[in-house]
Amino acid sequence: MNGLADKVIMVTGAASGIGAATCKLAREAGAIIVAVDRSDEDSIVAGAQTSDNALVVSLDVTDEEGINSCVEAAISQFGKIDGLVNCAGISIPGSAHSIDTDAWDKTLSIHVTGTFLVSRRVVQEMLKVKSGAIVNTSSVYGLSGGRGNVAYNTAKGGILQLTRSMAADYGSAGIRVNCVSPGYIDTPMSSMLKNAGDFADKFVRMHALQRPGQPKEVAAASIFLLSDSSSYITAANLPVDGGFSSTHIIP
Ligand code: NAI
Repeated sequence: MNGLADKVIMVTGAASGIGAATCKLAREAGAIIVAVDRSDEDSIVAGAQTSDNALVVSLDVTDEEGINSCVEAAISQFGKIDGLVNCAGISIPGSAHSIDTDAWDKTLSIHVTGTFLVSRRVVQEMLKVKSGAIVNTSSVYGLSGGRGNVAYNTAKGGILQLTRSMAADYGSAGIRVNCVSPGYIDTPMSSMLKNAGDFADKFVRMHALQRPGQPKEVAAASIFLLSDSSSYITAANLPVDGGFSSTHIIP
C-alpha cells in the first residue's frame, strides 16, 4: 500500500489504540508522520512504532500554544501538512443526573474543542496550498443515544457536526473533511467493558459481524479518507462498526 507516498500526516492520540494503528498504517502507506499524544515521547514512539522520518510531540490537544508550536515545527521540518487524523479521546461514564461538571467539561474539551483547535491550526496551513484532508473520529454513539455515557455521546455528536461544518467551509479550497465512527474496537479504552459482567459479550453480539473490530480496521478507513482514492468524498461519516449502526440485533 503506498496511497500516502510522501504525504505528511499528523495523528493525535498516537500513543495507543486506533491512533497508534493509524500511524503504523500511514507509515506503511508511505507517509511522513507527525505523532501527537499527551503521553510522553517514549510512549508515543513505542505505541506508534515511529521514530525515523517522523516528528513526535508530547502535547495535550486542548493546549492551544502547544498546538501552534507543533504545527510550526512540522512545517519547518517537512514544509507542509497534507492530512490530519483527530483520534485523541477519553471516556468518562455517567448519566446527566449524576455526572459531575468536571467530567462533562473535560470530555467535551478533549473531544470537541481539541478536535477543533488542532483542525483550526492545521487548516490554516492547508488553505495556503488549497489542498488537504482531515479525518475526525466520532463513534456509533455520536449517531444514536446510548446509556450511561452522556458526555461522551454528546461530544461525539459534536464531532460529527464539526466535520460537516468544516467540510462546507473548506470544500471550495480543495480541503476535504470526513469522519469515521467506530463500533466496539479492541483497545485500552474499551478494555473497561470487559470488567462489566456480560456487557462486552452482549455488545459484541449487537454488531452484525459478531466480533470486536481491531484498531487497524479503523486505521484503514482513515487512510482511505486521507488518500486521493477518496478524492470526491467530503462531509461524510463512515461507520467502521461491523454493521452496528445499521442493524438492530437483539442479543
Ligand atoms: P485509547 O485510550 O487506546 O487511545 C487514546 C489516546 O488518546 C491515548 O494515547 C491518550 O493518551 C490520548 N489522549 C487522550 N486525551 C488526550 C489529550 N487531551 N491530548 C492528547 N492526547 C490525548 O483509545 P482508542 O480506543 O484508541 O480511541 C481512539 C479514538 O477512537 C477516541 O476518540 C475514541 O473515543 C474513539 N472510539 C473508540 C472506540 C473503541 O471501541 N475503542 C469506539 C468508538 C470511538
